[in-house]
Amino acid sequence: MDWTVELDTASGREQAEERLTVTWADGRREDMRLHEYGRVYAVPGLYEEVVQTRLECLSPSTMVAALLDQLGKAGEDPASLRALDMGAGNGVVGEELRRRGVSGTLVGTDLVPEAKDAAERDRARLYAEFLVGDLLDLPIGDIVARHGLNCLVGAGALGPGHIPAASFDAAWSTFPAGSWLAVTAHEDVLDPSAGDVGRYVAELREGKHGTEVLHAEPFRHRLRMSGDPITYVALVARRR
Ligand SMILES: C[S@@+](CC[C@H](N)C(=O)[O-])C[C@H]1O[C@@H](n2cnc3c(N)ncnc32)[C@H](O)[C@@H]1O
Repeated sequence: MDWTVELDTASGREQAEERLTVTWADGRREDMRLHEYGRVYAVPGLYEEVVQTRLECLSPSTMVAALLDQLGKAGEDPASLRALDMGAGNGVVGEELRRRGVSGTLVGTDLVPEAKDAAERDRARLYAEFLVGDLLDLPIGDIVARHGLNCLVGAGALGPGHIPAASFDAAWSTFPAGSWLAVTAHEDVLDPSAGDVGRYVAELREGKHGTEVLHAEPFRHRLRMSGDPITYVALVARRR
């Protein structure tokens, strides 16, 4: 590792405004927002050091544990899952699925090309395919059919500045009956009065879109750089 990183611990910053500074071995410094995902993924190990280690992000592990818990209650085996990981970033969720026994095909998608580059650089062969672009513009139906996908996952990837409801629905509606859905999102994003994703998830919880929500539980997603906890909700559902 030829860099060190310093987090801006000033309190009161919105999640999207949190900043960090990378200092390279030659003294060069690069200041960026954590949500400038392309820049963060371009530095090997930076996302893991900041998000997983220092900010103690629990979204991938909590989401996968909740999914596998429901799968177990349905008498199914993790090895039967073949998943599309939306907003996959550099592959932390895919790695967690593999670690927990999901041995079937994984396909990644993300809006930024640096995510695909980083996933292929740091977790080679984890994803059978990695598609770059918005879910509305990608041939998700073809991908689901070609790989026989039966599970859609997305940790921390929904809401403002992230995947909107129309894109989420465009992806989820292509999955066949019996498919699994597991996501995590900020509790505010899931407030039905807050925006499109909140309204869409409220509809899922009412049984609309051919979906049955099996589990919804708040948890500590990660710490803010200031040290305060951020609460997300882990949601697991199934297409009827
Ligand atoms: C908080 S990161 C989570 C990454 C990964 N799921 C994880 O848990 O480590 C959110 C990811 O969503 C991606 N993203 C944002 N908007 C998107 C969109 N419209 N479509 C697909 N991915 C998007 C970002 O580029 C980023 O990689």
